[in-house]
Amino acid sequence: MTTVTVRAPAKINLHLGVGPAREDGYHALATVYQAIGVYDDVTVVEADDWAVTVNVTGDLDASDVPLDDSNIAIRAGRALAAHHGLDRRARVEIAKSIPVAGGLAGGSADAAATLVALDRLWDLRTSDEDLLRIAGTLGSDVPFALIGGTAYGTGRGELVEPVADAGEWWWVVVPNTVGLSTAAVYAQYDALGLGEHLRAPEALFDALAGADPVRLAEELHNDLEPAALDLRPDLCQTRADIEAAGAHAALLSGSGPTWLALARDADHARDVAGRLGEQMGEQLGTRYPVVLCAPGPVAGAHVVTYA
Ligand code: C5P
Repeated sequence: MTTVTVRAPAKINLHLGVGPAREDGYHALATVYQAIGVYDDVTVVEADDWAVTVNVTGDLDASDVPLDDSNIAIRAGRALAAHHGLDRRARVEIAKSIPVAGGLAGGSADAAATLVALDRLWDLRTSDEDLLRIAGTLGSDVPFALIGGTAYGTGRGELVEPVADAGEWWWVVVPNTVGLSTAAVYAQYDALGLGEHLRAPEALFDALAGADPVRLAEELHNDLEPAALDLRPDLCQTRADIEAAGAHAALLSGSGPTWLALARDADHARDVAGRLGEQMGEQLGTRYPVVLCAPGPVAGAHVVTYA
């Protein structure tokens, strides 16, 4: 039986500008995405009915990932089959390394990977344009998970175009054991009466093209940060710890609760991660049992095995 495995990256938002709520409830965005080197691998195999399994690496908690038809990977598979008028099904096996409900778009990565994997398994040769459009119906971040790299996102985030990025950036990724709902953070954003006038972050584009981490650190920005911190004041401690660990900047990833620290290079990232690992919590265990170092930008969803 043929199997195809596709790898898809986590995303971070270097700039997340959020406008007021639209009539459909979504918020207009002006965002700069970057794909980073933390991945989910998705393997598909033809089956009599749709099924999904999730295996995690390390300490990750994936107990909140649904294993029924509501899983975004199955929704992706059904959408692709429907687009081609096919009645075919598959088993989707997700090997998860992207923290769940962390603001890193792990579900979107799984959806993008499933689209690419089934397109290959069934030899559908779907056009890029159609794949991006189907991806956009599944979730705001799914088109970006297809293209990867660094990209400017508009609309509700689903309209993506590549951005010139000369950097080889290194991020320290600090997940939180308790997830945060994206919808809840946007609702809090509305409740606080936030809703910025959207603008393209030109200075950030210059910093990316210039490959200078000190300049990039100055331009990182996330409009959702006050809303997320309002819901989860405990996250302020993590920001303080990151700053104390010597990173260039601390940035909340998407709607949180994952924090990102921008490092100078790979050695600096390992150094910051090591210091965070030494931070002790109230019960004298480490506050940050999982701290990852990840480069960016990396490729979007791509085939790694066809067997
Ligand atoms: O598009 P996605 O399903 O990932 O969005 C999850 C939730 O995040 C939406 O239901 C909505 O509440 C919120 N959201 C938003 N505006 C966006 C993107 C997401 O309000 N541009």
